[in-house]
Amino acid sequence: MPHRIANAALRSKVMTADEAAAHIEPGDNVGMSGFTGAGYPKAVPLALAERIHAFREQGDDFRIGVWTGASTAPELDGALAEADGIELRLPYQSDPVSRAKINAGRMEYIDVHLSHVAQMAWEGFLGKLDVALVEVAGITEEGNLVPSSSIGNNKTWIDIADKVILEVNSWQPEQLAGMHDVYYGTALPPDRQPVMIVDPSDRIGVPHFVCPVEKIVAIVETHAPDRNSAFKPIDDDSRAIASHFIDFLDAEVRAGRMPGGLLPLQSGVGNIANAVLAGLGESGRTGLTAYTEVLQDGMLDLIESGTIRLASATAFSLSPVGVERFLERVDFFRERIILRPQEISNHPEVIRRLGVIASNGMIEADIYGNVNSTHIMGSRIQNGIGGSGDFARNAFISTFVTPSTAKGGALSCIVPMASHVDHTEHDVDVVITEQGLADLRGLAPRKRAERIIANCAHPDYRPMLEDYTARAAQGAWGLQTPHLLGEAFSWHQRYMDTGTMRPAE
Ligand code: COA
Repeated sequence: MPHRIANAALRSKVMTADEAAAHIEPGDNVGMSGFTGAGYPKAVPLALAERIHAFREQGDDFRIGVWTGASTAPELDGALAEADGIELRLPYQSDPVSRAKINAGRMEYIDVHLSHVAQMAWEGFLGKLDVALVEVAGITEEGNLVPSSSIGNNKTWIDIADKVILEVNSWQPEQLAGMHDVYYGTALPPDRQPVMIVDPSDRIGVPHFVCPVEKIVAIVETHAPDRNSAFKPIDDDSRAIASHFIDFLDAEVRAGRMPGGLLPLQSGVGNIANAVLAGLGESGRTGLTAYTEVLQDGMLDLIESGTIRLASATAFSLSPVGVERFLERVDFFRERIILRPQEISNHPEVIRRLGVIASNGMIEADIYGNVNSTHIMGSRIQNGIGGSGDFARNAFISTFVTPSTAKGGALSCIVPMASHVDHTEHDVDVVITEQGLADLRGLAPRKRAERIIANCAHPDYRPMLEDYTARAAQGAWGLQTPHLLGEAFSWHQRYMDTGTMRPAE
């Protein structure tokens, strides 16, 4: 393994995970690498969890602030949450233990647009960053750090932290070197300059992180895989949603609103996103691009088939099979994939300039097109907004997808009034369920309601929604966006009646 640390001075800083974890003190804010289970540190968080347990046994408290790129894995979020070691978490999580602690009020969580995190940290809004704990694939002779399978906020953490701990993971392919584009030109207003990406293939940075040697206090060598969960087989609902989406893109091309080669695609995480990618692969198109946040297995298919010529993202999110496929043809993929810091992969200016076609999952949409991506019944966090807002607000066309019902049909995902709003009606162009697609562009609120109910609601719920809108139009205080406020939220109360989840214990 020594060749992964080519810099002689830094080799002397290699130590065990326990020794490295001792550099983290109670009350520290720690900026960790990691984005959807890719590129997170795999040894020091576990050692830190042990350190936290040992403190507790002595009667001392030990909690830290954990800042990341996005979600990580059980060895990081799970272990630290289990140890009750996280005081504050940001900007995104999807870990079941963390979720339970947040919803039980035992962990604070700040749910942030992913493109905002780095600037909020520079601006000092988040407090001081004591430690950066970052996984890398190697260290060059000059001391530059080769990023691993995600970039996220790593550049920022390394820049602003007082001290840096590195995990050098030899499981990560060496061929990742050169795939990344780390932009060092960001600045705060009034010195901010344009981010000069005019095609997803543009490179504007360097392929490594830069870190003064003296800031690095510990290096831990690991050989451990990313956490990857297999995708579920594509089900009928996902296939139907994908097909509506692709028909819509075809219609946009026919209407002359989009070139035949489309515009750069952004696709959210999960099985529906994977199904959409699979559907695009079957559509016979070639030479498309993606300007997105994560690369799932479906993207590898599209790149291999030539459907996608180039994909830009901040992280991989591959299943174990996807990882094998990537490794088998790593030289092929590295020519066609660029990983960037998340402030650039999700940059509003670039998304707007490129005219990205955005597609993101949601929990529910209301009849006027307000979207809830984060909260069950208005108060219980599921994951977080992630990058969906960065894309939805700035996209050329912003689409949101969901099955029309949840919990085996007991709940409608189209409701009179969203119980929490992440994306307002102003940021939502198209709603898609397995039932159909509602194009909301150019429609005033009451027309939007008609179209969403007719095209997207499940037939079991359509009459109830039609009845609601009819009565709201009679009884509402105003007819711009008619609502019966007392009744609107009773739809969410149904959730409690399904018996599938209790209120936070
Ligand atoms: N009411 C209550 N619960 C609902 C619901 C509704 N309307 N819709 C979904 N759920 C529940 C599901 O039953 C499931 O519960 P479970 O975990 O107990 O099984 C859970 O929410 C997740 O739903 P699922 O159908 O598995 O959705 P998903 O994996 O497609 O994720 C989001 C949907 C919204 C949670 C996910 O897309 C997300 O976190 N989005 C925000 C971040 C984002 O968009 N990132 C990409 C930006 S690049």
